[in-house]
Amino acid sequence: MPSLLLDSLEFLHECRLCPLQEARTRVVRPEVPANWSSLPKRVLLIGEAPGKTEDLKGIPFVGAAGKLLRDTLESFGIENIAITNSCKCRPPNNRPPKTLELVTCHDKWLQHEIKELDPTLIVCLGLHAANSLLGCGSKNKYCTVDGKKRKPPGLNDLRRRDDLEYNGWKVQVAYHPSAALRMAKNMAPFVADVRKLAEWLGVTTRAGWDQDYTELTADNYIDFGYPKKEPVSVDTEYDVDGLFCYSFSYEPGKAYVVFTREQGGSLLLAQILTDATKIIMHNAPADVPQFKKFLRKQWNNSWYGKIEDTMVLAYVLGRPTGTLGLKELLYNELGLKVIRLEEVLNSKTGGKFEDVPKDQVIRYSGQDADGTLMLWQKLKKELDEQATKG
Ligand code: URA
Repeated sequence: MPSLLLDSLEFLHECRLCPLQEARTRVVRPEVPANWSSLPKRVLLIGEAPGKTEDLKGIPFVGAAGKLLRDTLESFGIENIAITNSCKCRPPNNRPPKTLELVTCHDKWLQHEIKELDPTLIVCLGLHAANSLLGCGSKNKYCTVDGKKRKPPGLNDLRRRDDLEYNGWKVQVAYHPSAALRMAKNMAPFVADVRKLAEWLGVTTRAGWDQDYTELTADNYIDFGYPKKEPVSVDTEYDVDGLFCYSFSYEPGKAYVVFTREQGGSLLLAQILTDATKIIMHNAPADVPQFKKFLRKQWNNSWYGKIEDTMVLAYVLGRPTGTLGLKELLYNELGLKVIRLEEVLNSKTGGKFEDVPKDQVIRYSGQDADGTLMLWQKLKKELDEQATKG
């Protein structure tokens, strides 16, 4: 468990300064990584106030919203960040904290915490946290963000700003994960805010995620030892001359590419599709006809029942319809920048895969299968969580 003792919070557990002390079980201390002081960029996330689970455990963001927050940070490869709350005690029935509670907790604890931690960036999750630090936001009568009284900006106004500061510390405002859990339409901007943070931290592409792709030939696919009974993502690359290669992945970070015009590979493909517990594609109507044409009599209609389409999952989860392409989703959801088709097939390569260097096709096609599997894992998890929420 991360730990760092904060001198300024020594008597936090005894705090009786505001009405929230009455119903709380535990005062929730910040979570700070042990290597905080040696981090090149120190990010402090500030939430609103503890919920039921946090109140019982004394740890911030460990309930449903916390799980979404932590999972999303992890999916972008963000680690070693500090997490705290504007109010350290749970408001009864999870009601929003009142201004008096926010101000009291800020003045007695939060401001000292920030001073001691000296973060490179503070991210306020939601308007209450923004209010607490900036004295602005639609819940506040007075907005001082521009130094004068004016109509308080909404969350989206604040999210767009890159010039916010609190006593000299840089501040970014982002969606709160609870807002994303409450309404599906908030999920995309919440994830976009985490992606922005990942970009600021410089962790948008996971090191080596696209290094381990292998061409399978007639010589090596016997030794390869597939099939495995697992979900498998598959993808096709084709041009005016028809199918050029297919790729598949059953383990994030790994993908296999078969050049069908040289190697055939239909038996292997049929075996993979037969044994897969789920066949994952992105935009199946583009790939299925290619597979059917290639496999002819080996194609089996029962495979339809195992197909899961990541484009459909993203749609069901309420992602905006204009962003359902694989490349957009990989970037939006996981911060992965993948090669675009125009970079591979363009006027220089005559629009045919034959003319593209083989290692480039392996990387391109491998990324698509690997990325599809990773995207599926992420969206599926979100969908399963929605289903169990009831
Ligand atoms: N919401 C918050 O704002 N903070 C927590 O710790 C948990 C949920």
